[in-house]
Amino acid sequence: MNAPGPTAPRRGAHASVRHDSAAGHVTGRAVYLDDMPLPPDTLEAALVLSRHPHARIRGIDLAAALAVPGVVAAVTAADIPGVNDIGPILKGEPALADGLAEYAGQPLAAIAAASLEAARAAAALVAVDYEELPAVLSVEQALAAGLFVASPQVMVRGDPDAALDFAPLRLSGELRCGGQDHFYLEGQIAIAVPGEDRDMLVYSSTQHPTEVQHGVAHLLGLPFNQVTVEVRRMGGAFGGKESQATIIAGIAAVLAARARRPVKLRLPRDDDMLATGKRHPFLIRWDAGVDAEGRMLALDLVLAADAGNVADLTPAVVTRALCHADNCYWIPDIRVTGLSCKTHKVSNTAFRGFGGPQGMLAIEAVLDAVARRLRLPLDTVRARNFYGTDSRNVTPYGMVVEDNIIERVTAELARTVDLPGWRAEVDAFNAGSAVVKKGLATVPVKFGISFNLPTLNQAGALVHVYTDGSVHLNHGGTEMGQGLFVKVAQVVAEAFAIDVGMVRVSATNTAKVPNTSATAASAGSDLNGMAALNAAETIRGRMAEVMAAEHGVPVEEVSFDDGRAFARNRNCSFGELAQLCWSRRVSLSATGFYRTPKIHWDQATCTGRPFFYFTYGAAAAEVAVDTLTGELRVLRAELLQDCGASLNPAIDLGQIEGAFVQGMGWLTSEELWWDAGGQLRTHGPSTYKIPGSRDVPPVFRARLLENAPNREATVFRSKAVGEPPLMLALSVWLAIRDAVASVGAPGAAVELDAPATPSRVLAAVRRIRGGREGWAG
Ligand code: MTE
Ligand code: MOS
Repeated sequence: MNAPGPTAPRRGAHASVRHDSAAGHVTGRAVYLDDMPLPPDTLEAALVLSRHPHARIRGIDLAAALAVPGVVAAVTAADIPGVNDIGPILKGEPALADGLAEYAGQPLAAIAAASLEAARAAAALVAVDYEELPAVLSVEQALAAGLFVASPQVMVRGDPDAALDFAPLRLSGELRCGGQDHFYLEGQIAIAVPGEDRDMLVYSSTQHPTEVQHGVAHLLGLPFNQVTVEVRRMGGAFGGKESQATIIAGIAAVLAARARRPVKLRLPRDDDMLATGKRHPFLIRWDAGVDAEGRMLALDLVLAADAGNVADLTPAVVTRALCHADNCYWIPDIRVTGLSCKTHKVSNTAFRGFGGPQGMLAIEAVLDAVARRLRLPLDTVRARNFYGTDSRNVTPYGMVVEDNIIERVTAELARTVDLPGWRAEVDAFNAGSAVVKKGLATVPVKFGISFNLPTLNQAGALVHVYTDGSVHLNHGGTEMGQGLFVKVAQVVAEAFAIDVGMVRVSATNTAKVPNTSATAASAGSDLNGMAALNAAETIRGRMAEVMAAEHGVPVEEVSFDDGRAFARNRNCSFGELAQLCWSRRVSLSATGFYRTPKIHWDQATCTGRPFFYFTYGAAAAEVAVDTLTGELRVLRAELLQDCGASLNPAIDLGQIEGAFVQGMGWLTSEELWWDAGGQLRTHGPSTYKIPGSRDVPPVFRARLLENAPNREATVFRSKAVGEPPLMLALSVWLAIRDAVASVGAPGAAVELDAPATPSRVLAAVRRIRGGREGWAG
């Protein structure tokens, strides 16, 4: 019973159970690191950041800082007792710059003091002797100079060069998409507490406690077993606390080890934005061959990511970009080249979608250009290129798309929103409106679930049943607001057939569940849910045996339902059975483990079956653009997302809505702007514009695809949801392009980068009108 698979909803899996911290979030009772009561003598810390994007550090004078009353410790790279390297993939990534600053905002030194004011005042007094060096500040410059943080990645199928030559129509183009700041409400923060014998306990706002553990151990020169990392919850992360949290936790730990006192390091928002990485901006170059009906015959695509100063997670982000440059389309002859360009800017990192959005934006821009040139509806061109169920269902990296439901999803969306009627309304509006023009577009999305690197697809869990029948659950996943804890609790409740309220999830802790992967790639509930199910099933099996022996029935005749255990006509509460197990000296505690089956990946050839399965979605969005100012509004968005047999429809709908709005921000208002001197000038909410509540479309409907259990044996046949819906926001960007096109001649190309800020939209309008050149992007 209760094997993974479609099962009847109980009070566990598939129920819209409220987020375990919902009340805590809205009342302010949920404890974040900054709310934690601090141990006695805790010091507050501040960072000294590089003023220059590229400079030799001739010296750092800490004397004036150390003289500030209350200052207890000041450290530079030279004071790191272990190895100054926290690179998550490649080596050579210092926590504190060592002799060389490679971006404006890079941490150079850190101060710990009795008060935050003293720490910040002292940080401002640190004298740094810089010898400025020439800085590379754009992808173009990096390409020209041949500067990369990692080797190029090439994914190729067939003979794209020959196929391009033979194609009846050949089109090419270049465009850019911008980066994105995570803008988590809770900034980066850590509290490091020294213990006996150089032990270090670190409370960190991190998606990856194990990586923080490793980073701190390296910096302090300790074995992993002397470092413990705990995280109860993050106030948002979005990929920004996958590797970047290690820098903050690492520096806090170095200060704590030095001062032999607990240290709290919490970055002010501006420093957070200056010092830590963001979504990768990409430069995209494409050359496509199509037939007269818009069928893609060949594509040569270059995706050049602005990595910033070091690799961090860039190679993996680029791999995922390559793996999503096909989106839903069969392209027989294709080459996608991924470049990790080194610039003297902050090192970019994971951000919801992890390169997938950039890869998908590229192919959607290509198809949009093809459709406009051929004067065909974009949806018609897409439908001609969708993966089929015949030989046209293999991705460029060699994975068969076995679970393809994209036609079902797009058809269902088109039907529920009456797409033809909607189009007619938009066209009618535009016919009667000279200045404000509307645009309408859809987007289909296929997103691969699993970490590209098979090794990372593993998880552990620890479950205890107490003698009152209450359950303590711990697993390697972290809670960042996405509802992972309640989902995994639901899985365990389902396994024991008890109310989810009986299951208490405890803070993620490297001493409870070791050697974990980041909570990322949307795979949190897939991985940790299965590990927890494994642990719960082990305990349930033991409990069933005790029940069977007690009542003299074969174990197959024992069942669990509605908080009770049954053996033929006898039954007792789950708690009574737990008590009985204890009295019979049977363990009520177990670890669980899971590794994703079926996956493999060859990084050298960029081929394999990196994903256990795909999720699908589709969206339609309507925008209104003021063609005199470039300002825009998203008026309506309709989303349909495949979540398999959703573990928790309420949580999943929240994820879909949030991801879509965050994607809208990336594609419209959120602009990271560096000046010619390499200084980020948008480092706070006054200049960096995330969507506000009034940017949410007034008509905004998200739906889950119904009756669509995962055909793979995931936890209760659910599918991951965290990242995929972000890419549904491409419909907004395409709708803006549609509005811009409405003022141009039929067949004219739209030149519009992302984000489609008012200045870029206005420039695009002017270009397509054939008027004077615009003044931006
Ligand atoms: N939702 C909230 N509220 N806060 C977040 O930080 N991060 C997103 C997504 N949803 C995030 C979120 C990202 S980048 C990922 S990879 C997934 O959640 C991670 O959690 P999951 O694997 O449990 O879905
Ligand atoms: Mo999400 S970008 O995989 O943390």
